[in-house]
Amino acid sequence: MSFECIMVEKSGGVARVAINRPDKLNALNINTIKELIEAFTDIRDDEATKVAVLTGEGGKSFAAGADIPELSGQGLVGGKVFSERGHRLCNLIENLGKPVIAAVNGFALGGGCEIAMACTLRIASDKAKMGQPEINLGTIPGYGGTVRLSRLVPRGIAMELMLTGRVIKAEEALAIGLVNQVVPHDDLEDEVMKLAGVLISKPPFGVKAIMEAVNHGTEMAFEEGCRLEQDLFAITCGMEDFKEGMSAFLEKRDAEFKGS
Ligand code: COA
Repeated sequence: MSFECIMVEKSGGVARVAINRPDKLNALNINTIKELIEAFTDIRDDEATKVAVLTGEGGKSFAAGADIPELSGQGLVGGKVFSERGHRLCNLIENLGKPVIAAVNGFALGGGCEIAMACTLRIASDKAKMGQPEINLGTIPGYGGTVRLSRLVPRGIAMELMLTGRVIKAEEALAIGLVNQVVPHDDLEDEVMKLAGVLISKPPFGVKAIMEAVNHGTEMAFEEGCRLEQDLFAITCGMEDFKEGMSAFLEKRDAEFKGS
C-alpha cells in the first residue's frame, strides 16, 4: 500500500499512522482523508494489528484541520460530501474494534481535534493545542465535533469552545477530559508505545467488548445498554482467555491471553 499524504508502519502488533503534510501543519486535504480511510480499513481487517497509533509528522502538528483552500471551494452539495467523508473516517476509527491512540503532538484543530476525539484514547504532548475554530471561518465542526466534543467534555464547555473558537493548551484539555494524559513533548512517542503495549497485553475480545459497550451501550436506552453488557460479559465467560485470566490469578502468575 503506498500513500502520498500519510505514512503507515506496522511492528509488533502496533500500526503507526502519521499524517504527513508537515509543511501545511498536516492539514486534512481530501486525499489525506481518503488515504486514512484506506489505511484504517486495512488495520481493522489485519489480524496481526492489535492497536493503532495516529499522529502527525513534523513534531509541530497533529492536524491543523480541514485543508482551508480546498474547503473554501465547497458549496452546498460539496460541503455535504466533504462532511460525510470526514464522518466516514471518524466512525471507522471509533468502531475499529481495536484501540486507536491519538498521539497529539501539536495543533489538533478543527477536523484534527475531531479525528483525535474519534480515537479511543488521547495522549497529548505538553505543547499540544486543541480546539474547534471553525466558527471563525464562518462554518461549524463537520466531522462529528458538535456531537463528540459535547459527549467527551461537559456540555457547557463544549458549547463555549465551539461558539468562541477558543484554542486551548494541553493542561486545559486534560482538566476538561478532552485528553487522557499530558506528557513532555519529547516523551510522547515512548509514552504512547508504552500504553499500546499495555493494551496489547489484554485479552483482545475483552478490549473490543468494552469499546463496544461504551460506544454503543451508552447511546441506547439504559436497560438496552445494560443488556448489551450482559451479553458481552457472557461471551467473555465462554472464552479461553477467561479461563486463562482466572487460572493465572489463582496460580499467582501473569496471564497470557491468546485472543481465543
Ligand atoms: N489548511 C491548509 N493549510 C493550512 C492549515 C489548514 N487548516 N493550517 C495551516 N496551514 C498552512 C498555512 O497556510 C501555512 O502554509 P504556507 O507556509 O504555504 O503559507 C503553513 O500551514 C504553516 O501555517 P502558519 O499559519 O504559517 O503557522 P503558524 O504557526 O503561524 O499558525 C495555526 C499555526 C495552526 C495557528 C494556523 O495555521 C491556523 O490558524 N490554521 C488554521 C486552523 C483552522 O482554522 N483549522 C480549522 C479548519 S476548518
